[in-house]
Amino acid sequence: MRLLTLKRLCLSLPGWKTINRRRTWARQNPVQAPRGTRDFAPHEMATRRLVEHTLRRVLNSFNYREIQTPAFEHLDLFLAKSGEGIREELYAFKDKGGRDLCLRPELTAPAMRFYHTRLSREPKPLRVYYLGPCYRYDRPQTGRYREFWQVGVEVVGEIGPRGHAELLALALELFSAAGLKNLVLRVGHLDVLRNLVEEMLGVPRADQAPLMRLVDKKDFDGIRTWASARGLSKPVVDKFLTVFEATRLSDLKSAVAESGAAQGAFDHLEQVLAGLEAFGAPAGRIQFDPTIARGLDYYHGLVFELDCPDLGAEKQLLGGGEYKLAALFDAQQEPTIGFALGFDRLLVALERAHALPEPDVRTDVVVASLVPEAHNTARRLAMAMRAQGQRVELDLTDRGPKKAVQRAMQIKARRVALLGQRELEAATVTLKDMDSGAQESVPLDAAAAAPT
Ligand code: HAM
Repeated sequence: MRLLTLKRLCLSLPGWKTINRRRTWARQNPVQAPRGTRDFAPHEMATRRLVEHTLRRVLNSFNYREIQTPAFEHLDLFLAKSGEGIREELYAFKDKGGRDLCLRPELTAPAMRFYHTRLSREPKPLRVYYLGPCYRYDRPQTGRYREFWQVGVEVVGEIGPRGHAELLALALELFSAAGLKNLVLRVGHLDVLRNLVEEMLGVPRADQAPLMRLVDKKDFDGIRTWASARGLSKPVVDKFLTVFEATRLSDLKSAVAESGAAQGAFDHLEQVLAGLEAFGAPAGRIQFDPTIARGLDYYHGLVFELDCPDLGAEKQLLGGGEYKLAALFDAQQEPTIGFALGFDRLLVALERAHALPEPDVRTDVVVASLVPEAHNTARRLAMAMRAQGQRVELDLTDRGPKKAVQRAMQIKARRVALLGQRELEAATVTLKDMDSGAQESVPLDAAAAAPT
């Protein structure tokens, strides 16, 4: 009641109103891109496309095929997949027909929807990849956006530990081809983790979800509080937590020898990690991490995350694992595994490592006709140069040779091609190299080729 009166009083103060109006304006100023979204300038787009091109090349070399799904989906697809808890993260809305829709927060569920509606008869294993924008109502900061791009893969069909090793090798290769060296791939297995929780803490799988979320966040204080609320003794919890210090498979194997229940998962992990070595993955970059729980409940079996330690809080560049989503589509469960990487985070990591590729965005030639009679010749020359793969700007201003050269200088063009009366009569063009200043007269029919 008192709070309400105070609020009313504040609102009645003229200064407060101004501050409030400014805040609302800052939040809703239509001139600014919405919070958590970004505009990309031409040079930024050129860099993004270069990195994208490298990633596509690697994905193609592993024989993955690209798919595309819509930017928005039925809200229920994601609620059914991840539960009501995810609603807060979603950009959900009703369309004019009253349908509950949302912008996709990720692409695994859409890819599986697509698989079950149209691709299920494709020969297995089916390997697909995607690249596209995702939307999450996250708290924006560097490396975390409300609109961000994911590049991901999904494999449907049995591929076993050998296939899983190759999938992880692909994950590493994507980053290494993009030029990122400082990274750590952490690999775990949810059956190991769940068995440990079951055997060491006596918590059945059905009750493990809240604990898994704490484990996922590495919130050890939270785990202690949760365990004490369940009446677990301190020594039991302490022993459980020491298991989480393991960074090698062998550390944990001895620690849980008495449980014996996770042996199948251990064997699986051992084979994956051994296979990964043979793919040439640098051993120093691969860690066993039993604490990976992958926040989302649909994972099981092998799980993994890849970090770039240079990025601080938003260091996770990639996440994935085996998962079960077939029930959402009333379908029989096929083995499924996949991962997605945060494309924008990869770019931030490359920038921090001074490893961003430099795109070549220079204009090759400015073609300028200096008299109206030369317009058509200039048009033909520009088209011939373009057909040779050159980036050509046709100067449309008739401003004379000096201005044409100035324009070429301004936009840092490599060459300028001048077509005046003299050139028309001699069927030549004057080509000026903007870097060296050298100028030459070239027969028109030889001018379209790029300089060697
Ligand atoms: P995820 O871990 O939620 O997994 O996201 C994958 C990656 O997307 C993260 O590692 C991170 O790099 C990036 N990412 C997530 N949120 C943001 C954000 N707000 N801004 C920038 N980057 C972000 C998935 O989405 C699963 N669908 C991965 C998967 C594929 N599992 C199986 N198949």
